[in-house]
Amino acid sequence: MAIESSCDETSASICRDGNILSNITATQKVHEAYGGVVPELASRAHIQHIVPTVDQALMTAGCLLEELNAVGFTQAPGLIGSLLVGSQFAKSLSLSLEIPLIAVHHMQAHVLANLISPEKPAFPFLCLTVSGGHTQIVICHSPLKMELVGETLDDAAGEAFDKSAKLLGLPYPGGPLIDQYAQSGNPRRFPFPEPQIPGLDFSFSGLKTAILYFLQEQKANEPGFIEKNLPDICASIQFRIVSILLNKLKKAATQTGIRDICIAGGVSANSWLRKSLKELGEKLGWKTYIPKFEYCTDNAAMIAITAYFKYLEKDFATLNVSVSARTEWCIEKK
Ligand code: KG4
Ligand code: ZN
Repeated sequence: MAIESSCDETSASICRDGNILSNITATQKVHEAYGGVVPELASRAHIQHIVPTVDQALMTAGCLLEELNAVGFTQAPGLIGSLLVGSQFAKSLSLSLEIPLIAVHHMQAHVLANLISPEKPAFPFLCLTVSGGHTQIVICHSPLKMELVGETLDDAAGEAFDKSAKLLGLPYPGGPLIDQYAQSGNPRRFPFPEPQIPGLDFSFSGLKTAILYFLQEQKANEPGFIEKNLPDICASIQFRIVSILLNKLKKAATQTGIRDICIAGGVSANSWLRKSLKELGEKLGWKTYIPKFEYCTDNAAMIAITAYFKYLEKDFATLNVSVSARTEWCIEKK
């Protein structure tokens, strides 16, 4: 069994021999009213959700608690109070059932979500991980060996979506709403700038400022501008964020010669990114992989598959392992 509780989703999953038998996620609605995740409320909601979520994961998998032979949990990065709920729960299970405890890095797990489906990428593969807190390109040499080759210098891609949505007056998290409104919009109507960042790193803060100034100017000229043009504005913002992401991915593929290309993380649920990656892959002869929708946003199945590979290596944690808010992990940027 694995437990994910790094931010605002409480999730539990059962995995047998690398196959996911269940993946149950309780989403916390309480944050919507605040325009972002409130850490204290998140920890309290995890405490309320964790027992029913774990019960349901066991029931769906047709598995008894006594049958578990290891328990994994998200150790980092994330909100400390949230991580503590999942880690303490996992430690209690490990102690009472006398089974190994496995500490999992959330970002590594997002990448390995690509190994859940029967159609798996071949090693080494490239993965663009795009979430609310991170934007990274890694080379994945084997399940437990990854190399970071590019990352954001400021905002993450998910933040770029969410902050843009906030400027448009949309509720948190605005990423999925931008995706939704963009469906009927013209992506080329408002050409937002693409930053020129060297290497494989990303930057989204300039785009955010450009969107802010653009909206201020348009609203001053035409009251009701946002309401009248929402689909086109959303489609144009989404177009630019996705083009920034895919241009770097293209560069990484050219530099490394790798043709098995994956995406991961919450933003990989974005329909324009999924469609554009597929089209680009067909054009450039890549094999592209996108996790199933439920394995893109935060979920315990990705923690379970990572814990499974660590289990095979007997990479176990002790009961005094501590959680960490920080991103540092098994991969170092070159
Ligand atoms: O990976 P994730 O679930 O949580 C983190 O670890 O951050 O990613 C959440 C992020 C949020 O910024 C959310 O707005 C974004 O993923 N997101 C989307 C879509 N679905 C989720 N962004 C754009 N389009 C979507 N369809
Ligand atoms: Zn995540």
